[in-house]
Amino acid sequence: MSAIPFDQRDGEIWFNGEFVAWQDAKVHVLTHGLHYASAVFEGERAYGGEIFKLREHTERLIESGRILGFAVPYSADEIDDACTALLHRQGLGDAYVRPIAWRGSEMLGVAAQNTRINVAVAIWQWPSYFDPAQRMRGIRLDMAEYRRPDPRTAPSRAKASGLYMICTISKHIAEAKGYADALMLDWRGQVAEATGANVFFARDGALHTPLADCFLDGITRRTIIDLARRRGIAVHERAIMPEEMATFSECFLCGTAAEVAPVTEIGPYRFTPGELCRRLVEDYAAEVTPKRLAAE
Ligand SMILES: Cc1ncc(COP(=O)(O)O)c(C=O)c1O
Repeated sequence: MSAIPFDQRDGEIWFNGEFVAWQDAKVHVLTHGLHYASAVFEGERAYGGEIFKLREHTERLIESGRILGFAVPYSADEIDDACTALLHRQGLGDAYVRPIAWRGSEMLGVAAQNTRINVAVAIWQWPSYFDPAQRMRGIRLDMAEYRRPDPRTAPSRAKASGLYMICTISKHIAEAKGYADALMLDWRGQVAEATGANVFFARDGALHTPLADCFLDGITRRTIIDLARRRGIAVHERAIMPEEMATFSECFLCGTAAEVAPVTEIGPYRFTPGELCRRLVEDYAAEVTPKRLAAE
């Protein structure tokens, strides 16, 4: 990826209903979203000029805002149109799409009912990483110290900026130790997810994944469950205790950014990417490819 800082790139950003020059899309330092994390966002990928599951992402953005107590001031159609138009204006085919909504500067205290809700969308080039041979080498994960919080202590179903504080800390610690990412347990001590992706395990031809009852039920996670079931592969969504990882033969992460990423190691546990990983890497790659390109 390019090393140009994100505020110094060229192109356009959709900002509160208008396309503005990339470097002019600024906020004030006294912005509520910056001080109190009153922000929700999405991470989407475009493949061949089409944003995969755009409407589901847009609906999640609006729902995340609702959970944080604010109404995103654009309809799903308007946000979808903004994303699609921006993708074309940026002239990109394979790209990452980042919509965000946040409380503005009109109030700067814990109570912030009268802040404007701002919305922006930025899109940048990000080629898909779907060389199955590369993928199948797998990644290594640390065990994170922080846990996904009890839904009674945080709005865990929202893709809210504040929930990423423990993810950034955990990922930094993992990377400093030479790992690609970290696996987080939940507040009960059950396996939850990685810092920006959901997790699946395989044993005896079936998939097992934690119930998404206190972390993001990823759009990729749901896509994988659907793809696996279409193949006749059983998928068990259930509580998984960390010790059970010793009994699984394969493991992969999945998320919009990660796509399907086989895992070889989580703390003391070892996995060998095999048939199920390969099948889902390939099925997911086929699923995200626009139909008009798949036919070529
Ligand atoms: C913490 C976390 N969990 C899971 C996911 C996967 O979600 P999705 O598949 O909707 O991208 C993401 C990525 O957005 C994430 O940040």
